[in-house]
Amino acid sequence: MLRVSELLARQFSGTTIQQTRLIKGPTATTATTILFFLILITLTFISAIRLHTSKVSAYISTNFTITISDKHQTPTKRIEFPLNYSIGNQTQTCPTNYPKTFNPINDLDPSPRPVCPEYFRWIHEDLRPWKATGITRDMVEKAKGSAHFRLVIVKGKAYIKKYKKSIQTRDVFTIWGILQLLRLYPGRIPDLELMFDCNDRPIILSDGYNMTLAPPPLFRYCGDRWTMDIVFPDWSFWGWSEINIKPWESLLKELKEGNKRSKWIKREPYAYWKGNPAVAETRRDLLKCNVSDKQDWNARLYAQDWILESQQGYKKSDPASQCTHRYKIYIEGWSWSVSEKYILACDSVTLLVKPTSYDFFTRGLKPVHHYWPIRDDDKCKSIKFAVDWGNNHKQKAQAIGKAASDFIQEELKMDYVYDYMFHLLNEYGKLLKFEPKIPEGAMELCSETMACSANGLEKKFMMESLVKGPSVTSPCTMPPPYEPRVLGNLHRRNMNIIRQLEKWENK
Ligand SMILES: *[C@@H]1O[C@H](CO)[C@@H](O)[C@H](O)[C@H]1NC(C)=O
Ligand SMILES: *[C@@H]1O[C@H](CO)[C@@H](O)[C@H](O)[C@H]1NC(C)=O
Ligand SMILES: *[C@@H]1O[C@H](CO)[C@@H](O)[C@H](O)[C@H]1NC(C)=O
Ligand SMILES: *[C@@H]1O[C@H](CO)[C@@H](O)[C@H](O)[C@H]1NC(C)=O
Ligand SMILES: *[C@@H]1O[C@H](CO)[C@@H](O)[C@H](O)[C@H]1NC(C)=O
Repeated sequence: MLRVSELLARQFSGTTIQQTRLIKGPTATTATTILFFLILITLTFISAIRLHTSKVSAYISTNFTITISDKHQTPTKRIEFPLNYSIGNQTQTCPTNYPKTFNPINDLDPSPRPVCPEYFRWIHEDLRPWKATGITRDMVEKAKGSAHFRLVIVKGKAYIKKYKKSIQTRDVFTIWGILQLLRLYPGRIPDLELMFDCNDRPIILSDGYNMTLAPPPLFRYCGDRWTMDIVFPDWSFWGWSEINIKPWESLLKELKEGNKRSKWIKREPYAYWKGNPAVAETRRDLLKCNVSDKQDWNARLYAQDWILESQQGYKKSDPASQCTHRYKIYIEGWSWSVSEKYILACDSVTLLVKPTSYDFFTRGLKPVHHYWPIRDDDKCKSIKFAVDWGNNHKQKAQAIGKAASDFIQEELKMDYVYDYMFHLLNEYGKLLKFEPKIPEGAMELCSETMACSANGLEKKFMMESLVKGPSVTSPCTMPPPYEPRVLGNLHRRNMNIIRQLEKWENK
């Protein structure tokens, strides 16, 4: 019988081999690899501390100038630009005093920035369809049919042409997020034009496109293996005002605090899920696994009652208050669900029902290391098996929960969400074969104009997620593309682990 420790060992050795190849070529010896990783870890650690200190001082917010010091003890000025409400009404114009460029202090520092998390490498994959052809204006125009808006960036300023209203405030907070990126890295986002579709499901089918005929480039929040849409962080990172989900930066802190208060071992030893079963057949199928007088598959499942929740001020739908069970089920709805990051951040073992979609970060998750895969054709048995295993192997189960919450806290922190957008837009910009133009009649959009016209929770979330000033550090370093062979191996390894588990379940 295959043990999970074996699976984990395979997982880790696989990772090492692959990273070794990436950095040092196949001839590297084990000893040098280990030494290299030790150094790498130390370097990452040091730079993490450095980054952390600068951020901390940056957010002790007086309004304008703050002195921070880097490791050379040279005091550097950190500039903050609060929004100017002195006009304070709809005719608010964009300010002219925000810096157009900003040289981060560490650009003077010879040591390179830490390499971005592994999942950034998928940026190369997502843009691969245009690698040979580049992106023409014609291709962009073809994506217009389903787009909610066109984003144009010219000389560091953002212009939006709206085509239709999105569901709820998805478009508003997505645009807000892009404006914050421009505040964070002024002058470092290239001129570009892109089409953005705020709906759930990807639509650019890969059939019919090839090296000479490239598809229309369309940005959206998720993708799947049949389509070529380009994935971009979803609106919820800046807040989901309709259901009172806070901006990611604050929520991430709350989740971390919550985990400290509620130890894994003291949590309910069952698999928990709460959500809207109406959106997908597979969710209704999941409900059959709920506990009753006749059966107990170790699942505790609840239907979200949004009307009741709204009357109670969404207190029970707060992600940070939902880390009460040792196991948490993630199951897709109409497509990917924004809840995935909240579930993974819990310290609980995420039981991930076989997904069909991915968003920008989920391709960095490894089965059995970050989550426990659940089959979609025999959910109840699969869940019971996972929970029984975890309750019998508490340390290993906790380690999976911890690996996932560490991944979310470290590799999906807001700094990296912005860095992902930074690199994606820069790589996209490099492919453009035409000169981006400000659309006719388009208005310049900036944080001032957006925040001034917002009210209530929308405004509150905007103020909370406002980038206060230019980043004092450069973005992380973009990792190189996967070699096709490495990508193939990665995929096969993950599939093998999942298949092994299924076999094990069947015994
Ligand atoms: C900073 O902003 C606060 C209100 O946000 C204001 O009361 C204070 O006078 C400002 N300080 C400076 C130095 O402008
Ligand atoms: C705010 O805007 C007003 C009007 O444009 C301007 O006079 C004032 O100097 C601005 N304040 C700051 C702090 O930029
Ligand atoms: C809004 O702006 C207009 C035009 O600048 C001005 O006439 C009006 O008094 C302003 N309203 C408020 C409440 O500041
Ligand atoms: C690419 O697709 C187009 C249209 O289907 C076709 O005409 C062309 O021959 C294809 N090119 C290659 C290299 O397969
Ligand atoms: C699942 O079972 C629990 C316990 O009996 C119950 O409270 C809950 O409402 C059930 N969930 C659904 C969706 O019926």
